[in-house]
Amino acid sequence: MTLQDKLKALLDTARAELQGAPDAESAERFRVKYLGKKGELSAALGQMGKLPPEERRAVGEVANEVKAQLEALIGEAQKRAELAQLEADLKGPKLDVTLPGRGQRQGKAHPVSQMMDEMIRTFERLGFDVVSGPEIELDWFNFEALNIPKDHPARDMQDTFYVDLAGPHPDNPVLLRTHTSPGQIRTMLARPPPVRVIVPGRVYRRDSDLTHTPMFHQVEGLLVDAHVTFADLKGTLDAFAKAIFGASVKTRFRPSFFPFTEPSAEVDLSCVQCGGKGCRVCKMSGWLEVLGSGMVHPNVFKACGYDPEKVTGFAFGCGVERMAMLKYQVDDLRSFFESDARFLEQF
Ligand code: PHE
Repeated sequence: MTLQDKLKALLDTARAELQGAPDAESAERFRVKYLGKKGELSAALGQMGKLPPEERRAVGEVANEVKAQLEALIGEAQKRAELAQLEADLKGPKLDVTLPGRGQRQGKAHPVSQMMDEMIRTFERLGFDVVSGPEIELDWFNFEALNIPKDHPARDMQDTFYVDLAGPHPDNPVLLRTHTSPGQIRTMLARPPPVRVIVPGRVYRRDSDLTHTPMFHQVEGLLVDAHVTFADLKGTLDAFAKAIFGASVKTRFRPSFFPFTEPSAEVDLSCVQCGGKGCRVCKMSGWLEVLGSGMVHPNVFKACGYDPEKVTGFAFGCGVERMAMLKYQVDDLRSFFESDARFLEQF
């Protein structure tokens, strides 16, 4: 048998062997057997060296042809194997296309953030700019400039976290702000009147029970201009309450005391649960206390370099968790901070 015939016979055997639909493994075994370095084709070609040079050319052509055909055969066998595998996967239990998909769970804003955003949007519509101040504050901004001198009993209204850091002066220690009111001071020092700003942010007090957490959120408001009156304060806060709780909600201003406002008022809303008839939420009073407010004290203007003879203004501070509890009917403040997804997903 000539070498040409041997090569052709090799191709015929291979063709016969490769019929049917082999699996990927046998296709690979086949590739090694025929085309591998120590495979049949190499073996046959090894004998080419013994041929007289004039025959080599013809044999070489046949060899190339056989090699190309073998490659094509193997390529087809691999394709058949892949297809067979896919077919089997689709039929078999490996891939159950009827299983429900694993959906991406979408996150969303925390209820307190949602409430805060709604409050901010409402004041923005009323023309207020949003500014922010530091949560780690100096005594002077948090107390002194707000007309709360050292050793004044008004300091007891807010249990304070002092920070173990040297302030600029021994009389001006560093603390976690107890309210957003230092934002009033920072704003007035930074810009001349008129001002119309809100200061949303975190505040800290050293207490913790059913209705208090050591960290909570406030939105401070400050409006200063010539001829601002208490009527402007009432109109603004009434519009705010109606925007959040609906047109039927009523506001009530009760005399109160804050060192940095005079006169001062607590603002109550008609109970959002019972509409004012009296229920468990409002403790049968028909009213809910939601924020502190008042006309800016002349001493505060003086501390900021504003002339109290030329400008007047109002300020208010509103607790965000308190509003969220009323809006979303949550009765334990602490549930906002327990990170329980079953609670948070409801909003
Ligand atoms: N800062 C006061 C508080 O936290 C609220 C307040 C702000 C009252 C502005 C009057 C004016 O209790």
